[in-house]
Amino acid sequence: MTATLTVCETCNFAPETKRGPDGQTGGEMLCGLVEQVADGVSGVATRRHACLMGCDHHCNVGLSAPGKITYVMGSFAPEAASAAALVAFAELYDASETGQVPYKQWPQGVKGHFVSRVPPLPADET
Ligand code: FES
Repeated sequence: MTATLTVCETCNFAPETKRGPDGQTGGEMLCGLVEQVADGVSGVATRRHACLMGCDHHCNVGLSAPGKITYVMGSFAPEAASAAALVAFAELYDASETGQVPYKQWPQGVKGHFVSRVPPLPADET
């Protein structure tokens, strides 16, 4: 089952600044970086989405897969190191049956960025 990183493409570049020096939003910058890192990585997909409703702690990213816990993470700088940490965590998430990853395996770059987690819906028993 593929792990999908849903990256907000409309997040600010800085608290009071929508766009960075190249004219892209912080979200667009992080989307591009995550897409680059995830390109060719087995089991990890990306998608862009407008506002994930976590604007005050931009940049925001969701991680989900059918039947697995969903994570929402935020307060990422739109930088290559953030993208690398997100994709590395998504690979570990993909390898986990439930999506839960032992803390000791977490890439340093995702620590302190978790906003919430949502358990999976129960499997359809019909
Ligand atoms: S603009 Fe990214 S969460 Fe609202």
